[in-house]
Amino acid sequence: MKIAIGSDHAGWKAKEEVKSLLQQLKHTIEDFGTNNEDSVDYPDYALKVARAVTAGKFERGILICGTGLGMCLTANKVKGIRAVACHDEFTAEMSRLHNDANILCFGARVLGAEQIEAIVKIWLNTAFEGGRHQRRLDKISDSEK
Ligand code: RB5
Repeated sequence: MKIAIGSDHAGWKAKEEVKSLLQQLKHTIEDFGTNNEDSVDYPDYALKVARAVTAGKFERGILICGTGLGMCLTANKVKGIRAVACHDEFTAEMSRLHNDANILCFGARVLGAEQIEAIVKIWLNTAFEGGRHQRRLDKISDSEK
């Protein structure tokens, strides 16, 4: 899968760990930064990743900040993005099954490395169920017109 990834300063270390995981899993990734602990503004990175996903260059995106919340708020401003902030495996799985989420956000200050790995894996490996859920997503898309 082609995956765009980004973080702010609070998330960059976790981003490096997620990148290693994605490489092990043979995904193709592009890193949109940031790449150190210098303070930056999360919207800059969320918008880059979200726009790259809606441009069709990537199937999915992953965004990491301190809480996952700022990234999620920002990414959802981009038309066509269905970003979710998930901090457990159940909601990560459901966000794919029912919401066809195309960007996963989470907080590096919320989760440990093992939880992050479990959440990322289930989110990438779960397909959208379609059916009645597609009708609901169509209503979201219609609201963006
Ligand atoms: C940065 O301190 C922090 O506010 C940011 O990483 C994120 O948690 C915002 O939602």
